[in-house]
Amino acid sequence: MYIEIITTPNDALKESGFGSLKACHSVLNTIQRMGYGVSLSVCSTKEDLDDVVARRPELVILAVKYIPIENEDNIWLTSFFEQTGINYTGSSRETLEFDSNKVLAKTHLTNKGISTAAYFLAIPDQYKREEDLPIHFPLFLKPLDAANGNGIDDLSFVTNFTEYKNKINSLYKTFKQPVLVEQYLEGREFTVAVIKTSNNDLSVSAVEVIPPVSGNGLRILGAQAKKDDSEKIIRIPERQLKDKVSALAIQAFNALGVRDFGRIDIKTNEKGECFFMEANLVPGMTYSSSYFPQACDIAQGLSYDKVVELIMAGGLARIMSTTPPGLKPDARKILSAVV
Ligand SMILES: Nc1ncnc2c1ncn2[C@@H]1O[C@H](COP(=O)(O)OP(=O)(O)O)[C@@H](O)[C@H]1O
Ligand SMILES: [Mg+2]
Repeated sequence: MYIEIITTPNDALKESGFGSLKACHSVLNTIQRMGYGVSLSVCSTKEDLDDVVARRPELVILAVKYIPIENEDNIWLTSFFEQTGINYTGSSRETLEFDSNKVLAKTHLTNKGISTAAYFLAIPDQYKREEDLPIHFPLFLKPLDAANGNGIDDLSFVTNFTEYKNKINSLYKTFKQPVLVEQYLEGREFTVAVIKTSNNDLSVSAVEVIPPVSGNGLRILGAQAKKDDSEKIIRIPERQLKDKVSALAIQAFNALGVRDFGRIDIKTNEKGECFFMEANLVPGMTYSSSYFPQACDIAQGLSYDKVVELIMAGGLARIMSTTPPGLKPDARKILSAVV
């Protein structure tokens, strides 16, 4: 069995992924301990990817969604490996778009009756007066497709038209895209790691995330809080709330057509009602600090190694179902890895 982990020198990527090379090495070490042949490929060109294909790995573990190519379109790894007939982990190109574009995910889920904060998209000067705004203050302004809290800080929370205009202008200047304006949800915050196991069961790990209180008395998971690692992650104390959060995450996971694994962010309003916030479909995998493995540990006592085993389970099961008889790798080995 030969597996490759695919990443890119991704410091400049604003979108999500397993994390830095350190995270990829942790995943690599775990897979080595499982006894598989595995290597890490840092790809920055189409030729690098062609070299991966030539080595014909039985499974590629995608640590990033795409490889940026200067002056050309990004190469989306799922499409590339789909076309070259290589088995890969994670969701299809179509589903990953829900991770990249929060509005696409929100409209898709709203159409299926799943709750998400009311929103509109806006560019500077689109709305001239407070009365013209489609939703009333307080509002929350964030980039359409960034991740890791980029562009999000206390100024995202706006309570009047001047604050609104200032934040629209600054986000538009930085991200050069229409800004996502949401109803402000003032309740608690949760994240849920969901993994489809080899027998199609879902492993669901819901936790509460408590960002530090800012100087303005707000609890927002912006870029600074994430960088400082100053948020707390805890077991959800109330059984009923945990069930409600888990149920919403499962609904979103299924409705978005997520394959293998994903992390769903949820927030409550002042009444305690749950709202889908976003889907992270190539979640951070940094040992001891990323939400995904932490949620699995805190909610279910799963070790980092177990989490890596589980996120590979779907991919390993696909090898079993597609390899011709006679060429099948050792079935016992695979099954012991995915149970
Ligand atoms: N509508 C909202 N109301 C209140 N806080 C929000 C809202 N949307 C996002 N936030 C806060 O901003 C953080 C980051 O938002 P999110 O959409 O998850 O972006 P990112 O992709 O950067 O994680 C959330 O974890 C939450 O603390
Ligand atoms: Mg988030």
